Amino acid sequence: MTARTQKLFVKSYGCQMNVYDADRMADALGAEGFSTTQSADDADVIVLNTCHIREKAAEKVYSELGRIRKAAQEAGRRPIVAVAGCVAQAEGAEILKRSPIVDLVVGPQSYQNLPELIAKARAGERPVDTEFAVEKKFEALARPAMRPARAPAVSAFLTVQEGCDKFCTFCVVPYTRGAEVSRSVAQVLGEAERLAGSGVREITLLGQNVDAYHGEGPDGRPWTLARLLERLSEIDGIARLRYTTSHPRDFGDDLIAAHRDLPKLMPYLHLPVQSGSNRILKAMNRRHTGAEYVELIGRIREARPDLALSGDFIVGFPGETDADFEDTMAIVEAADYAASFTFKYSPRPGTPAAGRAGQVPDEVMSERLARLQARISERQAAFQRSLVGRRLEVLVERAGRHPGQMGGRSPYLIPVQIESCDAAPGDLVEVDVTGAGANSLFAAPAGGARGAIPQLAEATA
Ligand code: 5AD
Ligand code: SF4
Repeated sequence: MTARTQKLFVKSYGCQMNVYDADRMADALGAEGFSTTQSADDADVIVLNTCHIREKAAEKVYSELGRIRKAAQEAGRRPIVAVAGCVAQAEGAEILKRSPIVDLVVGPQSYQNLPELIAKARAGERPVDTEFAVEKKFEALARPAMRPARAPAVSAFLTVQEGCDKFCTFCVVPYTRGAEVSRSVAQVLGEAERLAGSGVREITLLGQNVDAYHGEGPDGRPWTLARLLERLSEIDGIARLRYTTSHPRDFGDDLIAAHRDLPKLMPYLHLPVQSGSNRILKAMNRRHTGAEYVELIGRIREARPDLALSGDFIVGFPGETDADFEDTMAIVEAADYAASFTFKYSPRPGTPAAGRAGQVPDEVMSERLARLQARISERQAAFQRSLVGRRLEVLVERAGRHPGQMGGRSPYLIPVQIESCDAAPGDLVEVDVTGAGANSLFAAPAGGARGAIPQLAEATA
């Protein structure tokens, strides 16, 4: 290793778990004397942390690699280039064949091996590490010696569970992230306490199927997500808890009760339904009906009436008819979403639905997507307008664009710009919402008060 500090640049695509993983890569390499940089141009090691969930993911990676190669050639530099994440897991050594600039390929379960893989690459090897050993990853990540490479922000992600055993027929996750594995309660608590100690006020627990969490508790028995949340809410300094993404089938009664009983658990839930048609839900192997989903939402709202719900939808799954799509439009009304993410079906290599008959033409998918998106945007705007005039608690995250303005988040995850606010990042402030923009709210400190409130307010449910 040279005396100069080595610089690491990680570019993440896709989900929040990749964001979390990028920080863990930085931690693992921080212990080896690396510091992070925001630009590929001065990096000694460039990592593309890829996503394989939808179409053209691999193509995007190859075109990015082409750009990196060109920029490095022009600058007369030769950084180590690594491909990580789900495309790495899915394509493995194929990436080395297609792209001569790539020095190493590392799957999501092997980031603890990065220092060793980089050393091999420097010695002229082109290592590929796509083993499924998620327990090893978690153990390595839990090592207290692993120092964070940069100060955590007010809000942090914490992976508690990885992988998926559900095998929805459209989804590549069970193949790229492997079988479901939960971290132990002790590991999660250790990491949460470290985060709290460094000033983090909000933790979002991550998992591909986070409500299937069943990590080993201190009593040697599996703990549910609800129990974990209850224990985490005892940590001083942590003011807010969230979790994502859940599956309707795993949503236990104790998790519903947690939304009633834990004031720190925020009233926002991302619970994808994918389609409103029972026929399509069956073909997707979701193992629930539209009515069961709506009934579940009803029970969660009984526990937490102000819950803001968001969902994911796929249009154009193989065999989807106009009537099936109308069922999806109907569930959007029935479930009353505050926000949603909509996708055109994208056949993923190796998944059961990819080869099925009845693939829906792109023009039909585009039409359906536009209609669904339009309705969802209307509902999202209506939800945001419904908050105008309300008093909310905001977790302040950063200074705003204008002097005296601070930016933070509402309990419902929507960003809030607060005028004339002298609170600091990490403070909880009460605000009166004065207006709603496209993707954020505008607010003033409640009752004209300018300071932070020391205690978490009582739940408003
Ligand atoms: N095509 C389109 N959308 C998909 N998703 C997952 N796989 C596919 C696919 N093959 C969507 C689902 C999931 C979200 C993360 O991505 O809606 O909930
Ligand atoms: Fe994919 Fe379904 Fe698992 Fe979600 S639950 S990760 S959509 S297989």
